[in-house]
Amino acid sequence: MKIEAIDLFCGIGGLTYGLRKAKIKVLAGLDNDESCAYAYEKNNAAKFIPADISEFDFKNLNKMYTKGSVRVLVGCAPCQPFSSHAFKLRKDASDARWNLLDHFIRGVKVVKPDIVSMENVRGVTKTEVFKNFVCELEKLGYSVDWKVVYAPNYGVPQNRSRLILLASRLGEISIPKETHTKDNYVTVGDIIRELPKIKAGKVSKQDYLHQAKKLEPINQKRMLQSKPGGSWRDWDKNLLPNCYKKDSGQTYTSVYGRMKWEDVSPTITTQFTSYGSGRFGHPEQNRALSIREGALLQTFPIDYDFGDFPAGKLSRHIGNAVPPQLGVVIGNQIKKHLEMYGK
Ligand SMILES: C[S@@+](CC[C@H](N)C(=O)[O-])C[C@H]1O[C@@H](n2cnc3c(N)ncnc32)[C@H](O)[C@@H]1O
Repeated sequence: MKIEAIDLFCGIGGLTYGLRKAKIKVLAGLDNDESCAYAYEKNNAAKFIPADISEFDFKNLNKMYTKGSVRVLVGCAPCQPFSSHAFKLRKDASDARWNLLDHFIRGVKVVKPDIVSMENVRGVTKTEVFKNFVCELEKLGYSVDWKVVYAPNYGVPQNRSRLILLASRLGEISIPKETHTKDNYVTVGDIIRELPKIKAGKVSKQDYLHQAKKLEPINQKRMLQSKPGGSWRDWDKNLLPNCYKKDSGQTYTSVYGRMKWEDVSPTITTQFTSYGSGRFGHPEQNRALSIREGALLQTFPIDYDFGDFPAGKLSRHIGNAVPPQLGVVIGNQIKKHLEMYGK
């Protein structure tokens, strides 16, 4: 039986790559950012369809699936409107990306896939738009399971909690069992320790993507005083930004940190090359993560071709991606479920 998937909000193809590794054929990915097309198609033998999903006519997808195939529709809508930061600012409902999950359901109604998978940040589970997504799937006859999973428990070396939802028309489907425990987490050291040393502001001669952002003189001093696993609390007082000297600034410990070799990395965001935007300091070298290191911590293979783009765009593409390893786990679970139902 042919299993065929289409990936909504495909970006540069993290999820698609993982599904393909689990031996699920991906026909196409849709995204409104055309700069993602190069990496998506180059690494995935799947078609990139430039499209705004809020205006897309999903009947066009029906023509792509082979008659009689098992239809899979997956997607990871933009996470920013549901991030904890957005919630703090109460920006959510005014963000145009907020209702993209409603368009995902509109797609499900037209495509009638056998299997649906959706990934997002944990914050989405508190929203009406998510509750409606689950309710609509159930009304359409899907069996639904969802869980906020901790990525290290599935072999991703990042302190990343994400919602995974699986739904099936065939019968009960469940979120995959964890594959790792604290004793065998994949760590920062496992992934990036062997890369050549580079300095802040420099590019490795062997690998163009192994380049680290320049540090301002004040950040160079801060970096020197940062301890692995520590924060700005380790610095001399004269290095603190004014806002951290106030009581209200005492809670910002998730920035200006240095990673530890024996731990998982922080969540790789679109800002992972900036020392001041997360705990993105290298465990030993005085710089933030390089683009290559971020890509490897996202579990992209070393030969994934990201294309010839400026550093800012590459880190946005990579930081936005679903880690391919999570895609493998989701893909394997879909296959297992289909086998149980004789597909
Ligand atoms: C979280 S990323 C998806 C990552 C991707 N699934 C992967 O595995 O690498 C969300 C994507 O949604 C895209 N996007 C945002 N608004 C969109 C819209 N209205 N229509 C289509 N794509 C959109 C963004 O360009 C971005 O690539």
